[in-house]
Amino acid sequence: MIAPIAVRPLICSESPPLHQRLTALINQHFSKPILCDRLQDLPQQFALPHPRPWPVIAWTDINPEQVVGIELKVFLAILKGAIETEMPIRDYTQTSRQYLEQLHPAMAKFVGGEVSAQGQLLSPGLWEREERRHTPALTKIYTQLAGVEIAPTPYSAKPYLPSIDPQTDLLRHGLHRVATEYGAACLYIWLMAHSTDPLQAVLAELVKDEVNHMTKFLGFGIWFFPDFSSRQAIAILLKPSQHPSQLLRTLRRMTTVLNWSSWSMSNKLSFAFTCCSVLHRLWGWRQSLTPECLENMLGPVPPASI
Ligand SMILES: [Fe+2]
Ligand SMILES: [Fe+2]
Repeated sequence: MIAPIAVRPLICSESPPLHQRLTALINQHFSKPILCDRLQDLPQQFALPHPRPWPVIAWTDINPEQVVGIELKVFLAILKGAIETEMPIRDYTQTSRQYLEQLHPAMAKFVGGEVSAQGQLLSPGLWEREERRHTPALTKIYTQLAGVEIAPTPYSAKPYLPSIDPQTDLLRHGLHRVATEYGAACLYIWLMAHSTDPLQAVLAELVKDEVNHMTKFLGFGIWFFPDFSSRQAIAILLKPSQHPSQLLRTLRRMTTVLNWSSWSMSNKLSFAFTCCSVLHRLWGWRQSLTPECLENMLGPVPPASI
C-alpha cells in the first residue's frame, strides 16, 4: 500500500486566474538558479549517473475532479498523445547516442548508456532511466481519469541518418532534441495549471525531468558549439533539407497527436502564452551563459567542436 504524500493544492475556490497560475508555475520551475543548477549537475552525472528520485505519489487518489479549466475529454486526448510520443524512448536514446558517440563519448553514454562492440545495449543511459518513467505515469493518470485502460499507438522514432559531416548532424539533431524537451516541458506545466492535488503532483515530476533534460541538452549544445549563434539555430530548425526531422513537420505532427483541433480558443491562447513565457525565461538564461561561465561548469571546450 503506497502512502499518499501531502500535496498543497495550487487551485482552490479562490484560486487566481489561469495566467497567474501559469506565471507562478513558470517562476517556480524555470528560475535562473534552477536552470543553472540542472546544467551544473551534468559533469557529476557523467561521472556517477544517478536518476532524480520521485516522491511517493497517491496514484489511486487521482480523479476527474482534479482536472480544472479544460474539458476532461480534451485533457484525455492530450494525455493519449503524450503517451504515444513518450513511448519509443529506447529508440530516441539510441539515435541520440549514435549522433554523439564519436564527438562526445561521455554525453553519448549519458543519453544512450553503454553498448557492446556488437551493438547490444549493456545498460541504459541516465536520460532513458528518467524518461522511461513518463509513459507509465501518464498511463496511470489516464486510467484513473477515464476509468478504462488506454490502447496507445506508439510513435515511430526517426532513425539515425548520418551524413559525411557528423558535427552538423549532431547540431541539427541536438536542436530538435532541445525543441522536443522544451515542448514537453511547456505541455506538462500547462497541464499542471489545469490540475490539482495528486494529479498536479505527478505532472510536476514530469516537468522537473523535462526541464532537467532540456537544460542539460541546451547548455551542452551552447558549450560544445561556441561559435554557433541563435540565429543560425533558428535557420536550421526552419530550413527544409533532406533530413525528415524538421521542426515544422514535428509541430504539425504534434498538433495532430495532441488533438489540437479539439482545444478551445482559450486553451490555445493559454498554451501559446506558456510557450512564449518559457522561451523568454530560456532566452534570459542563455544570455547569462558566457564562455567563461560554461567553462567553469563543464570544463574546456573539446577541440573537435566548431
Ligand atoms: Fe518525457
Ligand atoms: Fe523528454
